[in-house]
Amino acid sequence: MYYSQEVVDEVLANTDIVDVVSAHVHLKKQGKDYVGLCPFHNEKTPSFSVIPGKNMFYCFGCGAGGSAITFLMKYNNCTFREALQDLADRAQITLPAPNYSEETKKREQHRQDLLAVNKEAATYYYKLLRSRKGERGMKYFTDRALSAETMKMFGLGFADGARSDLTDHLRKKGFSDELILESDVAVFNEKQGLHDRFFNRVMFPIQDVRGRVIGFGGRVLGDAKPKYINSSDTQIFDKGRNLYALNLARRTKADHLILCEGYMDVIAMHQAGFNQAVASLGTAFTPGQAALLRRYTKRVLLAYDSDGAGVRAALRNIGILRNGGLESSVIDLRPHKDPDEFIKAEGKEAFQARIDSAENSFFYELRILSQSYRMDDPASRTAFHREIARKLCGFADEIERDNYIAAAAEKYFIKTDSLRRLVAQYGNANGYGTDTQSGAGERSKTFRSGRNQGESKDFRSRIPPGDGNRESKSRAPQAGGNGAAAARPFSRRLAPGPTRAQKALWEKQCLLLTWIIDDPRIFPQISRYLQPDDFDGEIYVRTASRLWDQLRKDPEAANAASVISSFETPQEQEATAAMFNSHLEGIEDKNDREKTLRELVFFIKQASLDRMTRAGGASSLQTLLTAKQQLQSLRSANFHL
Ligand code: UTP
Ligand code: MN
Repeated sequence: MYYSQEVVDEVLANTDIVDVVSAHVHLKKQGKDYVGLCPFHNEKTPSFSVIPGKNMFYCFGCGAGGSAITFLMKYNNCTFREALQDLADRAQITLPAPNYSEETKKREQHRQDLLAVNKEAATYYYKLLRSRKGERGMKYFTDRALSAETMKMFGLGFADGARSDLTDHLRKKGFSDELILESDVAVFNEKQGLHDRFFNRVMFPIQDVRGRVIGFGGRVLGDAKPKYINSSDTQIFDKGRNLYALNLARRTKADHLILCEGYMDVIAMHQAGFNQAVASLGTAFTPGQAALLRRYTKRVLLAYDSDGAGVRAALRNIGILRNGGLESSVIDLRPHKDPDEFIKAEGKEAFQARIDSAENSFFYELRILSQSYRMDDPASRTAFHREIARKLCGFADEIERDNYIAAAAEKYFIKTDSLRRLVAQYGNANGYGTDTQSGAGERSKTFRSGRNQGESKDFRSRIPPGDGNRESKSRAPQAGGNGAAAARPFSRRLAPGPTRAQKALWEKQCLLLTWIIDDPRIFPQISRYLQPDDFDGEIYVRTASRLWDQLRKDPEAANAASVISSFETPQEQEATAAMFNSHLEGIEDKNDREKTLRELVFFIKQASLDRMTRAGGASSLQTLLTAKQQLQSLRSANFHL
């Protein structure tokens, strides 16, 4: 991290989280807290609350939670530093200069220069389109039914026939030839020297999620080849890690994003009101792009061309999306070729209907597969059924697998029991969740899309993953249906999921941490028996360490927001927020509460001692003895509330 915890704490201490959140969410006061509709998942009744006393927010619906920094990071999709800067500005605090190395500074400056060239070029093309010289381009876009407003929204432009106008313009603006060449808006050859890369093309500036122009696509006005030319990758333009129009689509209210093939498809869709559309950038869809999408949604609809190439691309990308932890469905555009043509021919209501009836990608795969079998031939039909069974083994989760078995059986007129037996046969031979081609992801959770419905609001489903292993870290608790199952999904070949005992322990740890945050006066009694190392799971240990540090300095002042903000990623911040939001309900009597507190501490200490004992030589005899004594004395200890 670039800033010290003191700086972060200072900013948070001068930030009213209610102010920050209420700029984006309509909040209503409820007791000491505030409630509203969660901006991180779709809901009709509020489960999102802001807790001024802890300077934090938490959503019982999806598990999103954290400090004001977390909120801004998630809401604006920005980095820790950007969120902190934002809050510091509000609080009129000047942040100390972050400690960049010389090299980092240089690299950053170079990126800024490249961005400046791209911005200037985009402005140049934009103005040209709207000038006399741009009439041909304007006619082209108008003929394709784009409105002036749409052209503006996408910053569309035009590069006319002159081969060095832009290059000259950029030179006049003071950019060096090296920089112009490197930004790839110009190319060099012996005959012409440095000259414009794009001419006689309508121009599509490509923006990153933050709306900065990072490259261009240029389309010929007629049927010449190549139809599109795109900027090559540069230091600021990585085609595999950006998506066209994501800067706009990230703001959509839809619960999904639509992935299409072409720039023009995206633009036509946005113009028709489907602002959830994005496209890859003239290259095949990549896992990096799936990861990018996953930051904004859990569900992707594919709107690919209905021809053979489109189907192949869709099949390929379903796998990539699945491996990236995304659910997907496929939009059927037949009899039209692509979204642009579909909308022109049938209008937006018809397109919405196709969105609503998009086909679950597993069934899409089966349907395409079925086309290479002959259902009237018993041998071929059997082979098809075997193939279905093999794919079904890809679902590692038993309930999910069962749902798919039932649905597939019905669809292809197979007896459910026979199919189930066939799946069991394959599963026993090869294991479940081992089909990487297809079938199911370890992550595809439900096969219908009603993700949050009927989810329990009980804290139990919100416990953060306790083990710090790589698997659970990279798939840390996410917003949107963030049950323990999602937080720590079953995995295929890696470590097995948490056991019931482990989950029970984590629940208790959450309860205790929340209790301390809510009533820090109990800390001295607890710290007599428990040290941060007694907690199970790396994230718990780290959270407890921060909290213990704070409370040792000032036993009255537990600061949830500060503990949360000592973690850098929103996932960790959320996990920690969840630890401070589990509640013990229904124990009113003081004596009962004191007894419960002792039992909690005892349980956690005992588990810790068990782990120590199992680790054997790892812990010294002395430590072990002390722990045993502490546990003994805990039996008769009295806690006072
Ligand atoms: P399409 O041929 O479907 O283009 O290619 P489109 O966007 O629908 O454009 P129109 O409607 O024909 O004008 C899909 C995408 O593939 C890339 C572009 O990103 C394009 O948007 N592509 C296509 C290229 O990069 N180069 C090409 O020569 C063709
Ligand atoms: Mn097209």
